[in-house]
Amino acid sequence: MSANDAYAELIKRTREVNLIARCAAVLHWDQETNMPKGGGQYRGEQMAYLSGLAHKKSTDPEIGELLSQTENSDLVKDEFSDEAVNIREIRRDYDKSVKVPQKLVEEIARTRTISQQVWVEARQKSDFSLFLPNLEKIIKLDRELADHLGYEKEAYDALLDNYEPGMTCELVSKTFADLRDELVKLVAAITASGKKPNMAIVEQDFDVHRQKIFGQEAAAAIGYNFHDGRLDISTHPFTAGLGPHDTRITTRYNPKHLGQAFFGTMHEGGHAIYDQNLDSKHFGTPRGEFVSLGIHESQSLMWENMVGRSRPFWRHFFPRARQVFPEALAGVAFDDFFFAINNVRPSFIRVEADEVTYNLHIMLRFEIELAFLRGELAPKDIPGAWNDKFKDYLGITPPDDAQGCLQDMHWSSAVIGYFPTYALGNLYGAQFFAKAREDMPDLDEQFAAGDFSELKNWLVKNIHLHGKRYRAEKLVEVVTGRRLSHQPAVNYLKTKYGELYGL
Ligand code: CO
Repeated sequence: MSANDAYAELIKRTREVNLIARCAAVLHWDQETNMPKGGGQYRGEQMAYLSGLAHKKSTDPEIGELLSQTENSDLVKDEFSDEAVNIREIRRDYDKSVKVPQKLVEEIARTRTISQQVWVEARQKSDFSLFLPNLEKIIKLDRELADHLGYEKEAYDALLDNYEPGMTCELVSKTFADLRDELVKLVAAITASGKKPNMAIVEQDFDVHRQKIFGQEAAAAIGYNFHDGRLDISTHPFTAGLGPHDTRITTRYNPKHLGQAFFGTMHEGGHAIYDQNLDSKHFGTPRGEFVSLGIHESQSLMWENMVGRSRPFWRHFFPRARQVFPEALAGVAFDDFFFAINNVRPSFIRVEADEVTYNLHIMLRFEIELAFLRGELAPKDIPGAWNDKFKDYLGITPPDDAQGCLQDMHWSSAVIGYFPTYALGNLYGAQFFAKAREDMPDLDEQFAAGDFSELKNWLVKNIHLHGKRYRAEKLVEVVTGRRLSHQPAVNYLKTKYGELYGL
C-alpha cells in the first residue's frame, strides 16, 4: 500500500471513531437536558456499548501498521502540514490507548462509579474520613496509570498530558508561582479597600424568560451562530459539539440573580464559537479539533470575563438590560451596576469564585495533587494542607471539608491533573486578548457599539481554523510572538480591579 493510500485509510478509520464519539455526545446531551429519570439505566448500557466500540476500533493493531507506513513518507516532511498534524496526533492517541492495559481501564471505571457515590455522601455529611479509603485507591490507580503512560520527570506530567497535551508540571509550577505572589497581594489589597459594590443590584427578581431572551441576544451578538446551535437548560452548564453544524450550549437560571445564567451563557457561548469555527472540512480528524482543554477555556473565559465583564461591553448592553428588566434596573446607575457584576470577595467554593480569586483556588489544588502524587502528602493529611494553603492564599479558613477539600467531583472521578487547565485557560486568554488589543486598537469603541465581529474573526483566523496544528505552548508563541507568561493576566487584573477598588 502506498503512503497516500495508507493515510486515506487512516483518516477513514479516525472519522469513524469520531462518528461513534459524536453519537455518544448526542446521547449525553439528551441525558443532561431532556431524558426522563427512568431512562438512565438503558442509557448507561448505550454509552458503555459505544465507548467500548470506539475503544476497540481505535486500538486495532492495523492502525499501528497504517501509521508506520505514513510516518517516514513525504507526507510528514512539513511538520505542520495537515497530513503531518493528523499523523502526529493519531499516533499520540493510539500509543496512549494501547499502553494502558484493559484491566486497569476497567478497574478505574469501576472505582470511579463507586467513589462518586461515596463522595456525594461524604460531602453531604462533610466527613472526609468516609471518602479517604476511596481517594487512597484512586491515587494508587492514577499513579499506576501514569507509570503505564510513561513520563520523564514527574508522574503528574503523564496525567496532565491527557488534558493539556505537551504541557509539563515544570512550566505550570513556574508560571503559577509567579502568578500566585501577584494575586495574593492583589486580593489582600482589594479586601482591605473601603470600596464595596452594592450587590442588591444584581441579587433581586429577574424573570427567567426575560433572562433567556437577554442571554440569547448577547450570545448571538458575540458570534454564537444559533442557526447551527441552540440554548437549553441543564444542572451543570456545558457545550456539546455534536457535528460540524451542530454545537449546543446549556445554562441554568437563578430567578434571584442576573449574573449566573448570563455569564454562564457567555462562557458556553465562547466555547461554542470555538467549536463552530473549527475547519469543517477536517471534521472528525485532529486537524479539525480543538487544541487542548486550556485553549478551549481561554476562549470561554475571554468572552465571559475580558469582554463580557468589561465597561465597553456594558456601554452597549446596559441600556438594553434596562429595557428588558425595567423594574429591577430602572433607577440603577451604570457605574454601580458595573461594580456589582465585578465584585471580588474571597470565598470557599471554586465555581462561585470571581476572576481575581479563581486562579488561587486552582493553584492550591495543583500543589496538593502534585504533593500527593509524589507521595509527599499522605491522603489523610489533605484536609489540613488544604485549609493551611487556603488561609495563606485567600486569608480565610473553610469552616468544614464540604466547603474545603470535598467540594469538587474531580478526584472522586479519578480525574487528577485536570485542574491546571482552568488557570492555564485564564493565562492563555489574557495573553491572546492583549495581543488582539495590540492588533486592533479600537476594540473598545467597537464593543461599545455592539460590534464584536472583528475580535471573533481574529480568533477564528489565528486560533480556531488551525485545529490541532500546534500544541498549546507553541500556539501561544505563534499567535502572540511570546512564550506563555503570567504577566498579561496580572496586567489585566491589576488595571481593571485597581480602578474599581481605588488601589
Ligand atoms: Co469552560
